[in-house]
Amino acid sequence: MFDVAIKNGLCFINGEFVQANVGIRGNRIVYVGRDEIRGDIEIDTSSSFVLPGLFNAHTHLAMTLFRGFAEDMPLMDWLRKKIWRAERKLTPKDVYWGSMLGILEMLKTGTTGFSDLYIHMDEVAKAVGRTGIRAVLCYGMADRGDVERAEEELRIGEKFIREWDDAFEGRIKAIFGPHAPYTCTPEFLKLVKEKADKIGCSVHIHVSETQWEVEEIKKQYDQSPIRMLNDVGFLDWNVVIAHGVWLDDEEIAILAERKVSVVHCPVSNLKLASGIARVSDMVEAGVNVALGTDGAASNNTYNLFEEIKLTSLLQKVRTGRADIIKAGEVLQMATRNGYAAYRLNGGEIREGMLADVVVVDGRRHNFTPMYNAINAIVYGSFGCEVRHVVVDGKLIVEDGEVLTMDEVKVIEKAERIVEKFRE
Ligand code: NI
Repeated sequence: MFDVAIKNGLCFINGEFVQANVGIRGNRIVYVGRDEIRGDIEIDTSSSFVLPGLFNAHTHLAMTLFRGFAEDMPLMDWLRKKIWRAERKLTPKDVYWGSMLGILEMLKTGTTGFSDLYIHMDEVAKAVGRTGIRAVLCYGMADRGDVERAEEELRIGEKFIREWDDAFEGRIKAIFGPHAPYTCTPEFLKLVKEKADKIGCSVHIHVSETQWEVEEIKKQYDQSPIRMLNDVGFLDWNVVIAHGVWLDDEEIAILAERKVSVVHCPVSNLKLASGIARVSDMVEAGVNVALGTDGAASNNTYNLFEEIKLTSLLQKVRTGRADIIKAGEVLQMATRNGYAAYRLNGGEIREGMLADVVVVDGRRHNFTPMYNAINAIVYGSFGCEVRHVVVDGKLIVEDGEVLTMDEVKVIEKAERIVEKFRE
């Protein structure tokens, strides 16, 4: 007898779909196989797909409040003229409701875990606790060359980790989040990395997102962002970089050698005209590549199925090779690789893994006819086919409805908050 029994589904296991039953006890998958199983909660998944939970490896969650707020602008203008100004008006309560809205959207589209870098992170942590989703959280730090500010930022970052790491039965992992090489000095970054190693936590940072950034760092330090970070001993197996759009061969080799994970955010990179990352080259070099949406202001959704499809399509057009980054590979980037980037034992349907599982309705017009389940999911999903979501062994979404939150209330709250951003 299991706590949850997921029966008769086509399960994504080791890169392919196979018929299996999945037994969950506590927060772990404890059985995967063909035996008849029973559970306190039984989910019949005939004519459905059973996926490991999707992991959104780079978000600024509460930016849901800026969805559609500043459009059709390049990154630096977008940040300086619109986003950073509006963010100064954000209260902790705003961040809570903006996060609730983001989590609502993620759960409804099959995301069971995410990694968030933002401000007022206590509120994000509370929203994670309330809704039952899994998260890796960090306070976004930037010293901007000011020694006093560096100390203060590190103090806030460290306090957040002390207070929230392992909260809600381990559903929250708290880490360090220095913003980027153009907002943090090498000295500060070195200090952050040393602290992270001492505490035993990961570090998340934006790197080489735009050509502007690469030129700016070269002007300041006479070398590219990746080489600068490598020189100060920042790059390591516990470091996860977002974007990595502008990398040369040697930098990709450095990332592979240092075992750094990279989060590819194709929609945001396209929308801000940042460029197309060399994902297939990174994969070939052995870099762990995960997928992220970035903030909702530059996306505009947290629907990871969009990133899944685009990742594959962009590499095909970039390389001129239609056979590159196959559907099964990209589905693993969205699941297993995201969990692995942050050293979480999940993203796979396998005994011993965290019980984060998604059931997708297979009987849909956009999945018909069904020749191949992986191709159907990767190239044909809208995200709205997600029926049930289990996170940490608990059923959080049932028949498309999020059980842990009042959807109407969340939408109304968000609408009220954004009044002050309208001009
Ligand atoms: Ni970002």
